[in-house]
Amino acid sequence: MTTYITTPIYYVNAQPHLGHAYTTIVADTYSRFCRLRGDEVRFQTGTDEHGDKIAEAAALEDVEPKEYADRISGMFRDTWPLLHAKPDNFIRTTDEDHIRTVREILQKVYDKGDIYFDEYSGLYCRGCERFLTEKELVDGNCPDHQRPPQEIAEQNYFFRMSNYQQQLIDHIKDNPEFVTPERYRNEVLSFLSEPLEDLCISRPKSRLTWGIELPFDNNFVTYVWFDALINYLTGLGYPSGEKYDTFWPVAEHVIAKDILKPHAIYWPTMLMSMEVPLYKKLHVHGYWNVDDTKMSKSIGNVVRPAELVEAYGVDTLRYFTLREMSFGLDASFSSQAIVARQNSDLANDIGNLYSRSIAMLKKYHGGTIPQPGDEEEVDRDLRELAERVVQTYQENMSIFQFQKGLQAVWELVSQANKYIVTNEPWALAKDEAKAVRLATVMYNVMESLRLLTLVLRPVMPETAAKMTTGLGYGEDDPAVSLLPEGGFWGVLKPGMRIQKIEPLFPRIDAKKHMGSEKQEKPKKKKKENVAPVELEGLISFESFKEVDIRVAEIKAAEKVKKSDRLLKLTLAVPEERTVVAGIAEYYSPEDLVGLKVLAVANLKPAKLMGIPSQGMVLAAKSVVDGEERLVLTGVLGDAPVGTRIS
Ligand code: ME8
Ligand code: MG
Repeated sequence: MTTYITTPIYYVNAQPHLGHAYTTIVADTYSRFCRLRGDEVRFQTGTDEHGDKIAEAAALEDVEPKEYADRISGMFRDTWPLLHAKPDNFIRTTDEDHIRTVREILQKVYDKGDIYFDEYSGLYCRGCERFLTEKELVDGNCPDHQRPPQEIAEQNYFFRMSNYQQQLIDHIKDNPEFVTPERYRNEVLSFLSEPLEDLCISRPKSRLTWGIELPFDNNFVTYVWFDALINYLTGLGYPSGEKYDTFWPVAEHVIAKDILKPHAIYWPTMLMSMEVPLYKKLHVHGYWNVDDTKMSKSIGNVVRPAELVEAYGVDTLRYFTLREMSFGLDASFSSQAIVARQNSDLANDIGNLYSRSIAMLKKYHGGTIPQPGDEEEVDRDLRELAERVVQTYQENMSIFQFQKGLQAVWELVSQANKYIVTNEPWALAKDEAKAVRLATVMYNVMESLRLLTLVLRPVMPETAAKMTTGLGYGEDDPAVSLLPEGGFWGVLKPGMRIQKIEPLFPRIDAKKHMGSEKQEKPKKKKKENVAPVELEGLISFESFKEVDIRVAEIKAAEKVKKSDRLLKLTLAVPEERTVVAGIAEYYSPEDLVGLKVLAVANLKPAKLMGIPSQGMVLAAKSVVDGEERLVLTGVLGDAPVGTRIS
């Protein structure tokens, strides 16, 4: 199979933000997923550099548009490696061959009779770079840019878009996957249920010179959208050549809903007029919002990708955006949300699974993958779940339902963690008769990790690379890099040796990580009680502080009826309360009265043998010379009853 995936070419009137980053991460993940599937893939992104917006932005900085475009285009180009997004081609609309091809196409469409000259007046939004219809306005304003469009009357060239209206409707109806998710397909069809107007495709040079000159009238430059959309073809060497022949027939575009109309209406009708087959699929996603408002350069509420990578790491950002946004719907960005994902899904779930599994393999098998024995029911359940997960993952990744694909993957993560708890390798290791069972359990755990490495590769390339080396595979071993070869159970080879490991994800202290949201920046540096980053398994001082431990005096003690283990204590902390303690085998009631012990004062009340207990006394329990021992804890000097332990 072959795949051609594109992002929009972004305007160079402002720097990249999270919205651009998301689309690019999506296209990159999809291209990596297709490579995993074994496809030949081409992934293209780039920058859109002509038109009013860019001319205005350059004028504001008092530089030539080209110089301005060079600078911002460079910022986009430099941002993608930070996100580990690897386009095969980065196109600029100021590239010579692009300009030449746009002019050839204009001439072709003109010669065909699909372009005519006419007087026009209309409502023009500079933000959208297009004329709006009355119906699109909200309170007289452009809904996207929240300002009124300008009334413009001038002579211009028009593209006979209306000629292709019925053909387009038919195509969309015959090809349910042409525009997805379905809500956007419906939106386009609903728009097309009204007569389509022709598209104004020129700007007089008296108003704008920063554009591609019309080949048939040098008093005009072409409209920026007519120029921009063609990038998807020029990047392949249209009108001919191997790249064009290979990739154009499978073209898929990713965009956000802001540019649905140009992509679902202008572009296919242009292609029809050019007699070029239409692209295969248009994948439309929603907006990243901050406080319910679209993140946008014109509004100024943007989050910079580079800062996010710096604060959270590239894979956390990639995972978060793909997991958090339901493709097609809007999503909200907040640093709390990203920290929560990092701590629970990444550090806790997969990070722990990985480090505990590798540690156990080292301890029990000297780091060598063991030969498994017979499959028991629990093993079969894990295997079948893993096989189902890989299937669900594939189905969803292919149709841009990344959040569902990842949800499925996390089912395997959590099932593998449960499998460890249920099968207790540490207990099996104590009994030599259970050696084969231990080997089977450890093999299955490691095989789950291998499958996770494989499916996570498109989403978190850096993490997958760490896991790949950890498991002892070479970077491009098919077992961890190709679904057809590695996407099923039992590929892991006994005898393989695992390598040195590094923890995958640190936990993030939520209070210290507020990303770039200004209002949340910590005001003053407080006294530091905590290491800035906690490793897996460690708890924070904050969590420790939640436990309220006090010096308590035992005022009274008695045996609990019908129990050999329990004593009912009356503790002063200093107010009196009842605590039921499992210490009857070690202490007799009369020895206890008057002792000062340590007690947890903020435990939720519980009932033991029908007696409500409010707290817990702390004790050291051990086995010495085969005999169990329990010693109550206290303080080493004199501390008043009620003193808090800190
Ligand atoms: O429209 N949430 O460029 P552009 C999600 N040059 N995605 C967002 C977003 C947000 N808040 N903000 C931007 C143009 N995007 C034209 C495209 S293509 C032939 C020409 C992403 O710089 C999303 O992909 O305004 C959106 O469609 C695109 O950036 C718009 O980028
Ligand atoms: Mg825009």
